[in-house]
Amino acid sequence: MPLVTAREAVLKPPLKWAGGKRWQVPHLRPLWKPHRDRRLVEPFCGGLAVALGLKPVNALLNDANPHLVNFYTWLQRGLQVRIPMENDERLFYRHRDRFNALLSTGHSQTEEAAALFYFLNRTGFNGLCRFNRRGLFNVPFGRYSRIGYTRDFSAYREALAGWTFTSGDVESLPLEPDDFVYADPPYDVEFTQYARGGFTWRDQERTAQWLSRHPGPVVLVNQATERMERLYRNLGYEMRFLRAPRRISCTGDRTPAREIMGTRNV
Ligand SMILES: C[S@@+](CC[C@H](N)C(=O)[O-])C[C@H]1O[C@@H](n2cnc3c(N)ncnc32)[C@H](O)[C@@H]1O
Repeated sequence: MPLVTAREAVLKPPLKWAGGKRWQVPHLRPLWKPHRDRRLVEPFCGGLAVALGLKPVNALLNDANPHLVNFYTWLQRGLQVRIPMENDERLFYRHRDRFNALLSTGHSQTEEAAALFYFLNRTGFNGLCRFNRRGLFNVPFGRYSRIGYTRDFSAYREALAGWTFTSGDVESLPLEPDDFVYADPPYDVEFTQYARGGFTWRDQERTAQWLSRHPGPVVLVNQATERMERLYRNLGYEMRFLRAPRRISCTGDRTPAREIMGTRNV
């Protein structure tokens, strides 16, 4: 029987992360294929659905959330979760206190912080990642009926071996001219709270402008709002439209979102 290496096996995104783009991978594969020897750069890597789906050998993956990035750097080291994990409210708040104590004492980059982050993400409300003004994680218990926890993440070590993770603002990324960039910023309009201060319209503009100056292939996705279409068109992106899978929004509206995919040099 042929051996399946981690690079060939399908690894699922290990966290719950708002705005996951696993559903876009079949649309992206044909765009990526002619460029697959290039480095994949994701300025907003989030839950890692796209990188795990396209499986580049080399990648530069960035996100403004430093706890998310810390978790990934521990995945690269074959994270083993040793803390107790149960879908239990008291244990959840105990682990939340401990996580916050690590943040307050400068230990946010440790393996323990990565393990706690994973547990809080799986067990907390809707996989949210939210912090109060003092920088403390304040998501409440999630009340799921069942949760499957992973303890051994060694399968991710090989898949992530050639990838570099950074945490910073999109424009801080040192792009090389040949890079293939897939950029999935927070949605325009829809309520998202990934980063303190949010992602404003000005942030959408500067992201689209910055990427329009990149000489290599670029795929930039977002919700298809009118102003987003106008922005991409004015900057010379080619555009196609995709239907996102149905999501239940906070208003109970189940209309599928229309997504815009702006491309350059692909
Ligand atoms: C829509 S999500 C990306 C989802 C990802 N494509 C996936 O499939 O899971 C947007 C991400 O942008 C990050 N983010 C927000 N502001 C940012 C900024 N200024 N620079 C870089 N990343 C940012 C958020 O933390 C969030 O993870």
